[in-house]
Amino acid sequence: MSAVTALRWHSGALDLLDQRRLPAEQTWLRCASAGAVADAIRDMVVRGAPAIGIAAAYGVALAARDAYAAAGDGWRGAIAADMAYLRAARPTAVNLAWALDRMARQFADIAGDPERALLAEARAIHDEDVAANHAMAAHGAALIDPGSRVLTHCNTGALATGGHGTALGVIRTAHAQGRIAEVFVDETRPWLQGARLTAWELQQEGIPARLVVDGAAAWLFARLRPAWLIVGADRIAANGDTANKIGTYTAALAARAHGAKVMVVAPLSTFDPVTPDGAAIEVEERPAQELTQLAGQPVAPAGFAAWNPVFDVTPAGLIDVIVCEHGVIERPDAARMAAFLRTAGR
Ligand code: MRU
Repeated sequence: MSAVTALRWHSGALDLLDQRRLPAEQTWLRCASAGAVADAIRDMVVRGAPAIGIAAAYGVALAARDAYAAAGDGWRGAIAADMAYLRAARPTAVNLAWALDRMARQFADIAGDPERALLAEARAIHDEDVAANHAMAAHGAALIDPGSRVLTHCNTGALATGGHGTALGVIRTAHAQGRIAEVFVDETRPWLQGARLTAWELQQEGIPARLVVDGAAAWLFARLRPAWLIVGADRIAANGDTANKIGTYTAALAARAHGAKVMVVAPLSTFDPVTPDGAAIEVEERPAQELTQLAGQPVAPAGFAAWNPVFDVTPAGLIDVIVCEHGVIERPDAARMAAFLRTAGR
């Protein structure tokens, strides 16, 4: 069990571990309004699809508190602008919209002050995510042969979720079971979630790991033969196409070309059955300065243009297994995904 926590409700507000400052500093940002939570999501204080959803759920409780103070029983109308602002914070991780929709389904049943009921629902979303992570970790770890090397991309650990992690949760549990000889960690340009966050989480638990540049994927699979690429997801379309951090698609191609397997690990809250395929997923593009500068210093000529999509979509055909809390979908396609979701009750 990881000791790392990305977010906690404390004395009537949401405290977020400021992930922009890790690993150098551990500072907490206090969010006492929905607007502050939305800004923190947009600005990458909290990131990772499940953690974004959980933060947004607590944001709804804050929005409701303010709306009730301003409008009394008219709070359901007064909350609309905050709900829209939260929804617009980042476009790709479907967990954000999923959490807001789940919170909104509570509204009709609430009488009087809504804060308590909505806080309870946010806490339930948070607790259920932790439980889902542990279930996924058990399902995914069982697929990994003892003594394996694996590659992971971005950060999918306790920092990206309610706790334990998705892909990194599988790696944690597999390591505890003696299945992991070594983890390779993509540095994950441009925000360096691998170098700053995944390396930090792995180091704290003494899990053997080495950092590689994102561009090393093909050479890594050719030379050091990791058995698996294990990644998380921001959105899984109805046919299994998977949006995740930019560079995942490249790593999956490299894995496939060298006979390694690709595992996607995500809770059901990341599945988006109404989006038919990857082409329909909105991929967030962030400012050019994220590429043309490094830690505030220019690394490209002044004024040089950049294309900065921060996610890509790995086609389902490159994915060997999708692991969620309800089990494993092998060689995902539209039919297998639909059949699985039916048995999972979604
Ligand atoms: O831009 P980020 O850091 O929010 O991107 C995070 C990822 O791409 C993760 O792999 C994904 O959200 C899964 S986290 C369990």
